[in-house]
Amino acid sequence: MLELVDLSKKFKQMYAVKNLNMFIEKGEIVGLLGPNGAGKSTAISMLSSLVEPTNGDGRFNNISILKRPAPLRKVIGMVPQEIALYNDLTAEENLRFFGRIYRLKGNVLKKKIDEILELIGLADRRKDVVEKYSGGMKRRLNIGVALLHDPEVIIMDEPTVGIDPQSRNYILETVKRLNAEKQMTVLYTSHYMEEVEFLCDRIYIMDKGNLIASGTKDEIKRILSAEKTISIKAERLNFLCHHYGYFFFFRNHTINYRILF
Ligand SMILES: Nc1ncnc2c1ncn2[C@@H]1O[C@H](COP(=O)(O)OP(=O)(O)OP(=O)(O)O)[C@@H](O)[C@H]1O
Ligand SMILES: [Mg+2]
Repeated sequence: MLELVDLSKKFKQMYAVKNLNMFIEKGEIVGLLGPNGAGKSTAISMLSSLVEPTNGDGRFNNISILKRPAPLRKVIGMVPQEIALYNDLTAEENLRFFGRIYRLKGNVLKKKIDEILELIGLADRRKDVVEKYSGGMKRRLNIGVALLHDPEVIIMDEPTVGIDPQSRNYILETVKRLNAEKQMTVLYTSHYMEEVEFLCDRIYIMDKGNLIASGTKDEIKRILSAEKTISIKAERLNFLCHHYGYFFFFRNHTINYRILF
């Protein structure tokens, strides 16, 4: 359905994305994983024709995205990394505003808004202004806006950043439902291996603009566990300062770490 061929983007002297090749089949959930600055947002901006590539092109149903972006633009939903909502409007008003941009109106728009508010779990907060929402609620509404025109493909750029585990699970379950019930094709961008492991059929991993691994979930897990596991055995009581806190090692105790990046 979607294919990227040798796609590159250069900002001044630096490649944000270099020779990226990837494909997405209809009905798949594909994960795009990578740390800060890997080039994920740049890649999906080119894929969705928001940013012009320095080199390469994408194809949607065999049509060049560069030469004819309209067929893709009609059926794509984009959930941006930065929340794009009007804070002084309610959830309902935001959805109505964006729905009108998609040229929805009357009863069709009203029904769609009701359906989306149910789906994202905000029906009971529909009359509250977004300013009063929690981070997770804003994230959910940000997703809702991208669903107004019943997209065939949805691209989500780190939709769970900065929210609690409960809201995060809600979003992950919603993505699964959209895929299962509406056969929506999904490209899901994240920092978290466990999220893409839960959601995705296939996974691409980027780092510093390059694709460093791709494959099915099982293939990726095999690559990671074979190549990137370190075992640490302490000879005496010790502790290690880690990104997530401190770990204590007791004598002769071994800890295995699966290292992603
Ligand atoms: N408009 C721009 N002008 C100059 N450099 C840019 C621009 N957009 C992105 N970059 C650079 O390109 C690289 C990739 O950025 P990008 O936002 O695509 O990464 P990312 O994987 O989405 O990171 P994050 O997880 O932090 O969102 C970074 O080094 C970034 O500074
Ligand atoms: Mg990004």
